[in-house]
Amino acid sequence: MSIPLFLLFLLIPQTTALNRYSCQYPTRNPLSGCPPNTLVVGPTAKFKTIQSAILSLPHNNSSYTILIQPGNYTEQVNITRAGPVTLLGQTALPDNLTHNTVNVIWHQATGTATTGTLDNAFTSTLTIAPTLNASLTGSGPTGNTVPADTPFGNSDFRAYNLNFINDYLPYSAGPSLALSMSYANGGFYYCGFYSYQDTIYVGKLGNAYFSKCEIAGQTDFLYGFGTAWIQSSRLALRSCGGGITAWKGTNTTFVNKYGVYIHDSVVEKANSSLSIAGKCALGRPWNAQHRSIFANNSLDDSIEPSGYIKWSATDTRINYNTTMAEYDDYGPGFNLTGRIAANITILMNDGQYAPYSSPQKVFQFPFTQGEEGNIGWIDFSV
Ligand SMILES: *[C@@H]1O[C@H](CO)[C@@H](O)[C@H](O)[C@H]1NC(C)=O
Ligand SMILES: *[C@@H]1O[C@H](CO)[C@@H](O)[C@H](O)[C@H]1NC(C)=O
Ligand SMILES: *[C@@H]1O[C@H](CO)[C@@H](O)[C@H](O)[C@H]1NC(C)=O
Ligand SMILES: *[C@@H]1O[C@H](CO)[C@@H](O)[C@H](O)[C@H]1NC(C)=O
Ligand SMILES: *[C@@H]1O[C@H](CO)[C@@H](O)[C@H](O)[C@H]1NC(C)=O
Ligand SMILES: *[C@@H]1O[C@H](CO)[C@@H](O)[C@H](O)[C@H]1NC(C)=O
Ligand SMILES: *[C@@H]1O[C@H](CO)[C@@H](O)[C@H](O)[C@H]1NC(C)=O
Ligand SMILES: *[C@@H]1O[C@H](CO)[C@@H](O)[C@H](O)[C@H]1NC(C)=O
Ligand SMILES: *[C@@H]1O[C@H](CO)[C@@H](O)[C@H](O)[C@H]1NC(C)=O
Ligand SMILES: *[C@@H]1O[C@H](CO)[C@@H](O)[C@H](O)[C@H]1NC(C)=O
Ligand SMILES: *[C@@H]1O[C@H](CO)[C@@H](O)[C@H](O)[C@H]1NC(C)=O
Ligand SMILES: *[C@@H]1O[C@H](CO)[C@@H](O)[C@H](O)[C@H]1NC(C)=O
Repeated sequence: MSIPLFLLFLLIPQTTALNRYSCQYPTRNPLSGCPPNTLVVGPTAKFKTIQSAILSLPHNNSSYTILIQPGNYTEQVNITRAGPVTLLGQTALPDNLTHNTVNVIWHQATGTATTGTLDNAFTSTLTIAPTLNASLTGSGPTGNTVPADTPFGNSDFRAYNLNFINDYLPYSAGPSLALSMSYANGGFYYCGFYSYQDTIYVGKLGNAYFSKCEIAGQTDFLYGFGTAWIQSSRLALRSCGGGITAWKGTNTTFVNKYGVYIHDSVVEKANSSLSIAGKCALGRPWNAQHRSIFANNSLDDSIEPSGYIKWSATDTRINYNTTMAEYDDYGPGFNLTGRIAANITILMNDGQYAPYSSPQKVFQFPFTQGEEGNIGWIDFSV
């Protein structure tokens, strides 16, 4: 008896999610269940480092998948390729990040007498940017001036079940990035990001989407110029310093809805042995065009009664354009009396919140460059 054609069609995995599970599942032949164009990285595979596999990819628009076998990879990964790249951590439990088997580890900070004064870009465990210039943080109100002819970088980067760690020191000791992305689109699912200061940098024209992730830090650990959406994740406070968010707008980034948007997530101390009640700020303005919105998050008692704070008493960096906002947060860290008394946090009403209420609204705002306006790079199945 032959199987009807339409049934055969149903037996073939149709979605990225199905491919992901069968490819990630550990099997004798690691490539079994993987999409075409998959490379394997592992201690006994042809590629021993993630970066060597990345560098082997052609600079064209074909999609490539890199399956990473369990282990600690001590290396910096730098992705300049524009074509789609998916990194998968091998795991039998792809829907639980506490069972991730792959750690990508780097150990570097900058900005202090001990660590030197390299740009923050050089410290990052993972960098996704077309050029060095695109990835530099720079200084001053507008940061590094990226040359106007810089092409857009990766149009569709995805990572699943990977931990990115910058463990320079177990406390804030200068910027030490786990992720740096600029002029690129990237989605991260069931990924962990662990550092203390400046854990995640989403730079100019960077579009970053995180779902079911864990992001740990102490000082300004979500910072940048670009657009970041954090969905159903855990922000783990390892201590307090600066704020959770420190965003910057420039006259060159007003073209999009830059900012960091944290949704339906849990913001809490990293573990029960920390005593930080009332000490952690939701954010502070890296410049006065800071934009961040915490919406529908559970906040534990680590959060300061005021919510956000000024940059400093003498240099407040707050004006009419500063958006340091919350919408429908709850939990012991949401102190309404404290928020109102300090008058720093904007408690948005439905009308104020509406323009920022979905990834489609913040990422699809008209752009002038590259592929940024398309959000096909986001995997909404996670
Ligand atoms: C990749 O596709 C984009 C448009 O989608 C095109 O502009 C670019 O030239 C292509 N790159 C290569 C190397 O073919
Ligand atoms: C990309 O390069 C690879 C390796 O040379 C080639 O097999 C593939 O066909 C190329 N893809 C496109 C879209 O040109
Ligand atoms: C891998 O790195 C993690 C995190 O730094 C560490 O806890 C673990 O002991 C390391 N494992 C091995 C096998 O080195
Ligand atoms: C993930 O795994 C941990 C450790 O085994 C377990 O405690 C937790 O309940 C799991 N989470 C989910 C959503 O299954
Ligand atoms: C990443 O690679 C590009 C291209 O090789 C290089 O220009 C840049 O310096 C690298 N970035 C970092 C932060 O090392
Ligand atoms: C970075 O941009 C500046 C200003 O356009 C330029 O002078 C410099 O050569 C660029 N650096 C690199 C490594 O391309
Ligand atoms: C709790 O988190 C802090 C900050 O990361 C760390 O230094 C400490 O070792 C952790 N304690 C436990 C018991 O895990
Ligand atoms: C942005 O501001 C800088 C100085 O702060 C100025 O040099 C530059 O021309 C401005 N760019 C645009 C697009 O307005
Ligand atoms: C708020 O977050 C909770 C828990 O993450 C979720 O169950 C609920 O659907 C969210 N509410 C809205 C309106 O999105
Ligand atoms: C506020 O933002 C607008 C653009 O939306 C800009 O034109 C204006 O200069 C900004 N004002 C201040 C005080 O930064
Ligand atoms: C809430 O904030 C008010 C005003 O700052 C403060 O007096 C009060 O102690 C706070 N409540 C809690 C539970 O932290
Ligand atoms: C809160 O701050 C805004 C802007 O700085 C100011 O216009 C307003 O009067 C303040 N409200 C109170 C009650 O102090």
